[in-house]
Amino acid sequence: MEHILWKNNELILLDQRRLPEKKEFISCRTPEETASAIRDMVVRGAPAIGITAAYGLALSAMLNREFDRDCRLLLDSRPTAVNLRWAVERMRKCHGKTGGNAAALAAEALKIHMEDIEMNRQMGDLGAALFQKPVTILTHCNAGALATGGYGTALGVIRSLYRQRKLKEVFADETRPYLQGARLTAFELAEAGIPHRVITDNSAGYFMAKGEIDAVITGADRIAANGDTANKIGTMVVAVLARYFKIPFYIAAPMSSFDLSLKSGAGIPIEERSRDEVAFINGKPIVPAASPVSHIGFDVTPGHLVTGFITNRGILHPPFHPDFG
Ligand code: MRU
Repeated sequence: MEHILWKNNELILLDQRRLPEKKEFISCRTPEETASAIRDMVVRGAPAIGITAAYGLALSAMLNREFDRDCRLLLDSRPTAVNLRWAVERMRKCHGKTGGNAAALAAEALKIHMEDIEMNRQMGDLGAALFQKPVTILTHCNAGALATGGYGTALGVIRSLYRQRKLKEVFADETRPYLQGARLTAFELAEAGIPHRVITDNSAGYFMAKGEIDAVITGADRIAANGDTANKIGTMVVAVLARYFKIPFYIAAPMSSFDLSLKSGAGIPIEERSRDEVAFINGKPIVPAASPVSHIGFDVTPGHLVTGFITNRGILHPPFHPDFG
């Protein structure tokens, strides 16, 4: 199912906040509406955020607005995923080259979108080639079609494994508090008929200790030159567990997720989100009103815990050279 659509000069987005209960679409007609959709998680996942921002800038050109201001507006919508900056910079270049031609900017956004799907398919096959016999994979958060232009990064590898009959089962961490694993990854796997089960975030170690997990594959929001990788909060815990239990831990990500201006993960901006997303479930408080809450959106997995980076250019290992991006 398509979840980011450009139709009649309008951006249509599947509202991921409503899944798996309802498939509802919202439309964005201005860069402000696009930035709000990113900020409010109508659309989320690093490559999907970048693609959405690119379409938001096509809207800016169509409406003949101040382009630089709209670039800043979209850049400020979420801090951690570098794909957002990557896409905005590409649209800025196209704006410069074409004198802000609206049709050219819409075509560039579509190109970014289609290239992302193509890179995911390549990554899927390159990643699947790492495994010779049927495996059980654990994944964290949602790095699927919904988080990208389509097909997915980590879930793209899983889709390719399934297609090649090299997949036994997928364990999807539920991913508190936003439940990207339980709501979105499970939704995609169920739609594709891929065998899976949802587990609470705390049970990964239990299943690893029992020998039930062969490998971990997750996506990434920003990868520094030394391989330090920001991804959804809880990813680092899974990576540490995987090292302890001697299970390979892979990151699957396109080139747009690499930020080689950063030597290490120390410089990655980490999003903090609202207290309410942690303290309430279905509108009901689960934390005493007087208790403070820390809601950190991402953590940084040290590069040395990553067995390999599955990219559209092959399986890479740090340090990454500044001119490969
Ligand atoms: O807060 P989210 O849902 O945008 O976080 C998403 C993730 O952390 C994904 O794992 C990451 O963006 C990679 S998506 C291919």
